[in-house]
Parts: sequence; C-alpha cells; structure tokens
Amino acid sequence: MSNASVPSPLTGIVYYSKASRPFDDEALQALAGQASQDNVELNVTGLLLYVEGYFMQYIEGESKATHALMEKVRQDERHTVLKELTTETLAARLFPAWNMRWLRDSELRETRLHEQLARRFAQGEGNDDAAQAQEIWRLVDGLADVCAKLT
Ligand SMILES: Cc1cc2nc3c(=O)[nH]c(=O)nc-3n(C[C@H](O)[C@H](O)[C@H](O)COP(=O)(O)O)c2cc1C
Repeated sequence: MSNASVPSPLTGIVYYSKASRPFDDEALQALAGQASQDNVELNVTGLLLYVEGYFMQYIEGESKATHALMEKVRQDERHTVLKELTTETLAARLFPAWNMRWLRDSELRETRLHEQLARRFAQGEGNDDAAQAQEIWRLVDGLADVCAKLT
C-alpha cells in the first residue's frame, strides 16, 4: 500500500495579534487577497478578521503545511501574536470554501461576535486556561456559521 492512500491529519490553528500599525479596508483586502492566493498552493483554508487594531486568523489544512505557514506568519513584522491555539484533531475543515475569507468589519458588526472579539483582544494574552481556550474555539465556530450564511 502506498503512503498516498493514507490521509494526512488536518490541523487548525487560531491566533490573535496586535497590528503594528492601523490597517484600513483597502490594506486588509490586499493582505487577504495575497494570503488567499498563496494558500491555494498549500491547500490551506481559513478566515482573517481585524477589529480595532487586532487581527484574528484561523488557518486549517494538512498539519505540516499549516504549522509551516503559522511559523512564517508569526514572524511577520506587521503584527505581534498574543495568543495562539492549535486543535488536537480536526475532523473536517470549517472553511472549506475559502483559502482565506476576510470578514470585513461591517459584516462583523452585524453579528453578536464583534463585541466579544474586541473584549477578548483587549485582554491581551488573557488567562492561559481551558475556559479561555474554549471561548476562543467557540468564537471560531461562530464565525464559521456566520461565513457559511454569508457565503
Ligand atoms: C495578519 C496576517 C495574516 C497573514 N496570513 C497569511 C496567509 O494566510 N497565507 C500566507 O501565505 N501569508 C500570510 N501572511 C503573509 C505572510 O506573513 C508573509 O508575509 C507572506 O507569506 C510572504 O512571505 P514570503 O516573503 O516568504 O513569500 C499574513 C500576514 C499577516 C500580517
């Protein structure tokens, strides 16, 4: 049996970071567009959003490619990563349709998640506890629902 028949495990990584300078919609669109293009090659999918000077990004894909991308993004001087979480197992992609879905502020403001996100980011690293990790993963799930409805 060849290795090709063994499916690679999927990994999801979510982080939030403080932007080094403010990003407007034009800059965000350019960043997400470039990321989306580059992620095709890696078969990575996910979500990017920006709220009041903070980014949140979720990336998912084959474990090795996803970790390698995260390593590169972490070193990007346009932001400083405050908090990063990795899934233990990911049965299926949450954003299968998007190599990088940018959820713009006006879209986010129509959801209940906007305030919760702003609060979470303002707490910086926050507590390193299971409850906080759960809250962050719930946010990612909530964002996946929002995006699925917006298509
Ligand atoms: C908030 C943020 C999110 C990013 N997301 C991605 C991404 O999903 N995929 C990607 O290839 N690059 C992403 N980048 C850009 C990378 O950090 C890096 O600049 C880009 O991959 C070019 O790398 P290279 O010069 O090695 O080609 C992101 C950068 C920032 C600041």
